[in-house]
Amino acid sequence: MDLAISFAFLLFFPYVAQSQDFEFIFNGFNNSENLTREGASIFKPSGALKLTNATANVTGQAFYTRPIQMFNNKSRSYPNASSFSTSFVFAIRPAATSSRGGYGLAFILSPSTKFPGAQPGHYLGIFSSSNDGNPSNHIFAVEFDTVKGHNETSDSEGNHVGININSMSSNASRPAGYYDKNDDANLEEIILESNKPIRAWIEYDGVERVVNVTISYSLEEIDKPKKPLISRHIDLTPILKETMYVGFSAATGKKTSFHYILAWSFAINGAAPLLNISQLPLPPPSEESSSAFKPQVKVVIAIISAFTLVLLGILFFFTCYKKMTRKESLEDWELDCPHRFKYKDLYAATKGFKESEVIGVGGFGAVYKGIVPATGNEVAVKKIIQNSSQGMREFAAEIESLGRLRHKNLVNLQGWCKHKNDLLIVYDYIPNGGLDSLIFKPRNNFVLTWDARYNILKGVALGLLYLHEEWEQVVIHRDVKSSNVLIDAELNARLGDFGLARLFDHDKLSYTTNVVGTIGYLAPELARTGKVSTSSDVFAYGILLLEVVTGRRPIDNNSFVLVDWLMECQQLGQILDAVDPKLNSTYVVEEVELVLDLGLLCSHHKPEARPTMRQVARILSRDDPIPAVPDWGSVDFRSVSEMNSRSLELISGDMTTRSYPSSSFGGITSSSIDSGR
Ligand SMILES: *[C@@H]1O[C@H](CO)[C@@H](O)[C@H](O)[C@H]1NC(C)=O
Ligand SMILES: *[C@@H]1O[C@H](CO)[C@@H](O)[C@H](O)[C@H]1NC(C)=O
Repeated sequence: MDLAISFAFLLFFPYVAQSQDFEFIFNGFNNSENLTREGASIFKPSGALKLTNATANVTGQAFYTRPIQMFNNKSRSYPNASSFSTSFVFAIRPAATSSRGGYGLAFILSPSTKFPGAQPGHYLGIFSSSNDGNPSNHIFAVEFDTVKGHNETSDSEGNHVGININSMSSNASRPAGYYDKNDDANLEEIILESNKPIRAWIEYDGVERVVNVTISYSLEEIDKPKKPLISRHIDLTPILKETMYVGFSAATGKKTSFHYILAWSFAINGAAPLLNISQLPLPPPSEESSSAFKPQVKVVIAIISAFTLVLLGILFFFTCYKKMTRKESLEDWELDCPHRFKYKDLYAATKGFKESEVIGVGGFGAVYKGIVPATGNEVAVKKIIQNSSQGMREFAAEIESLGRLRHKNLVNLQGWCKHKNDLLIVYDYIPNGGLDSLIFKPRNNFVLTWDARYNILKGVALGLLYLHEEWEQVVIHRDVKSSNVLIDAELNARLGDFGLARLFDHDKLSYTTNVVGTIGYLAPELARTGKVSTSSDVFAYGILLLEVVTGRRPIDNNSFVLVDWLMECQQLGQILDAVDPKLNSTYVVEEVELVLDLGLLCSHHKPEARPTMRQVARILSRDDPIPAVPDWGSVDFRSVSEMNSRSLELISGDMTTRSYPSSSFGGITSSSIDSGR
C-alpha cells in the first residue's frame, strides 16, 4: 500500500511541483511593500535598497515579506527541497574612499526574519559566536565577503564568495570572479567592494542537489557566464524548513561599507525572472564618509588643500566669473537621483531658455521645446518658478518614482533639474499639443473626427487605468482635464502632468487642506472633504468625456455648467443636440450616446456610483455594457455646480496671475469655499 502511494507520487511528481511555482521580481526598490526591513536598511530615493550605513558594527536586513513554501510536496514520506533560482544586482562601496571597508553581505534563506543576538562584522548579522555552526539554525547563506576571515581556515582571503550552511565557516568558498565565455580555465577577478554593480545568480537543483553560484559585472553586454564560480553538491532538504524567508543580510565591523541591492528576482521551480539591467537604480556616487586618515596626515592634507584652494579660487574667479552664475551646486541628496538632468544641458537644449522656444505658458511658468545636444532627443522642458526651495527634496523623491512610470498613453517624465529656486521638469515632446486647443481653438479649421476623439478617450482611460491599478503604487493624477491630454503625431492621447499638483503644497497660497485640481473638474466630495481618491480622477475623466463630445468647456463665465445642461438635454430626449456642431453630424450615434452616458455616470455626484477606470476601459472597448446610470435622487445639481462656480470666483479674485486656461491651483479649503469669501 505504502509502496503504491509512493509510486503514484513519483509519477505525479512534476505536476505537484508545478502547482507550487512561485516567483517575484524587484527592478529597483521604491518603498516596496513586499519587503520587510530590519536594522539599518533603508530605501534610497534612487530605488536602491541600502542595507548598511557608515556606522561601525551595524547590521541591516531585508526580506521578502511572506515566507515561501520550500518543499515540493506535502508528503511526509518524501519531503524534498524544491529547486529555486535567484538573481540580483548588488554594489558595495567602502565608506572611506581611500581605504578598504567591511564586512560583507549575504543572500539567505532563514526560518525567521529576526536574528536575536546575531553579531555584526564577520558574522554578517546572521550568526553569533554562541550559535555559529548549530544545525538548529536552519540557515542557508551565500556570502559576498570583503574581509579576510579570522578564526577560520576556509575563508582564507578577503574578496570571496562562499556557501555557508548554519555557520560562518563556508562549505565552499572561492575568490570572487567569473569565467569568460571563451576561456573557462581562467578566473577573472571581480573586486566586490569596487562600487560597481555586480550580478549574482544562485541556483539550486532539487533533483541533482547541486548549488551553483555565479557572478559577473552587471553590464548589458555581459551575459551570464556559462561556468559557475561555485558548483557544489549539497542537499538542502535537511537544512531548510518547510517555509523559509528569503532575503539579504549585511553588516559593518570596525571598518564600514555601504551595501546596496539594486534589483532582485526569485523563483521556485523555474529560472528567476530576468532583471531589467538597463534601468537599474545607481548606487549613489558619494555620501557620508568617515575619513580613514590619521590626525597628523589630516593636518598636512588640510594645509596643502588650503593652499591649493586659494590658488584655485583666484584662478576660478578670473576665468569663470561669467559662467559662475550657471554653476551647479548640488546638495548631497541630489546625487542620488538618476533622473536628474544637468542644468547646462537643458540650457543648451532650449537655446538658453529663449523666448522663441516657448511652446506653452501657464500660471506656473513656461514650457520650452528643446533638443538635448548629447542625444538629439526632442524634449519639453517645463520651467517652474518657485520662491522657496522648501519641499524640493520631497518633490524630487516623488519625481524619481514617477520617472519610472512608462505607458504608451502617458507623457513620460524623463527627469528634472533644480537651478536656484527654479525647477525644471523634462518630458517627452508631444508634437500636436493639448487636446483643448484641438477642440476649442483648432488651427486652419482642423476638425478632430469622431473616430479620433473616441480613440483619444480610450487612450486616456488606459493611461489612467495604469496609474490607478497597474503600476506598483497607486498614482492619483488629481488634474485630469483636456489641456493635460497631449496628442501625438498619430493622434493618440498622452496624459501628462501627473503628480505635479504636489508642487503646490508649498505655495504661498497653501491652506490647511490641500485640494488640488481645476475648476469644473473637481469632484464634489473632494472640495467638501479634501479627500482625494481614484474616483475623483474618474469624475474629472467623466467631465473630459462630455467636453470632447460637445466641444464645450465644463463651465464658462456665463454660469453655464456642462453637466447640468446635458442632464436637461437628456431629460428632454434631445441629447444628440448637444454634440459638437463642428462634427457636422458625422459620428457613430451609439458611440456618442455611450460616451455621453458614461460621462454622466463618471461625473456622478456620489463617488460610489462611479465606475472604476478598469470598468470604463472595458465599456469603451465594448467588452462590457454600460450599467444603468443610478438614480440621481433628489440631488440638487446646483449645489455641485454652484460650488464649482463659486470656487471660480474665488480663483479669479485671488489668483489672477494664474487664470490661464491650463493652470492648476492648489490649496482651496472647503471652508474657504463654503464661506464664499
Ligand atoms: C545607522 O543605522 C543604525 C541602525 O539603524 C542607526 O542607529 C544609526 O543612527 C545609523 N547611522 C547613520 C549615520 O545614519
Ligand atoms: C550547475 O553547474 C553545472 C556545471 O556547469 C551544470 O552542469 C549544471 O547544470 C548547473 N545547475 C544549475 C541548476 O544551474
